[in-house]
Amino acid sequence: GSCLESVKIAIDTGYRHIDGAFVYYNEHEVGQAIREKIAEGRIKREDIFYCGKLWNTCHPPELVRPTLEKTLKILQLDYVDLYIIELPMAFKPGDAIYPKDENGKIIYHETDLCATWEAMEACKDAGLAKSIGVSNFNRRQLEMILNKPGLKYKPVSNQVECHPYFTQPKLLEFCRQHDIVIVGYSPLGTSRDETWVNVSSPPLLKDPVLNAIGKKYSKTAAQVALRFSIQRGVVVIPKSFNPQRIRENFQIFDFSLTEKEMKEIEALNKNVRYVELLM
Ligand code: A2P
Repeated sequence: GSCLESVKIAIDTGYRHIDGAFVYYNEHEVGQAIREKIAEGRIKREDIFYCGKLWNTCHPPELVRPTLEKTLKILQLDYVDLYIIELPMAFKPGDAIYPKDENGKIIYHETDLCATWEAMEACKDAGLAKSIGVSNFNRRQLEMILNKPGLKYKPVSNQVECHPYFTQPKLLEFCRQHDIVIVGYSPLGTSRDETWVNVSSPPLLKDPVLNAIGKKYSKTAAQVALRFSIQRGVVVIPKSFNPQRIRENFQIFDFSLTEKEMKEIEALNKNVRYVELLM
């Protein structure tokens, strides 16, 4: 229920871009929140930008459309605004989200990312996804798609970890050249959950530079981190289940950072990921 409440608060606050995935197991709540807000007359469907994701066990081309259709059924929506390949590696298809062998090792699956992409293109042609993109792709993987013979649609976006401690300068420049929008996940340095976060890297929001700059504008380190990203053209998708912080993370359009401050924050880059995706 906390996801339902958070999405409703977010929509009331002004958020329109909602980043979801089948593997978050809360698409039913997200869909309900969107539908309730439409029923209230607060928004129209076309105001919302919902991003869904194709999980690793669903890369074989024949699984792509049925998987998106399943997401739409859970959301109870007719289309997603953006559908992205969540990760560039495939797992063995089946019910297990993390299929493992008897030694606990992930069972991978050989598929052709270009064939998966063609199935994504077909979803766009069918009107089930307005746009299609990728996530966690490096330059070589993007090039595989961009150089695919007969490419019909380029990925519109690449969702990757991006924040002041992991600024992705080379990937950002490559994507700029190819008109691919970078959507930055973990824009606040994510949570400190040791099961999937590299906590040996210091917490981003404790950073003295972010806090000092925040003080100048009466903003928090979180607001400065988000402002930094949007000011360099990176889309941010901050996560919060806390009403006050949901609102705080939206209050970033009434100030701007100077060029000098942008450079100072850029210099914080440690080239270390919080989300290592060790699988
Ligand atoms: P909570 O859900 O309790 O607000 P990211 O978006 O980088 O993945 O970070 C998400 C983490 O940051 C969550 O643990 C979230 O906790 C916390 N968080 C979200 N907004 C703020 C904020 N404005 N200040 C401090 N922590 C925040």
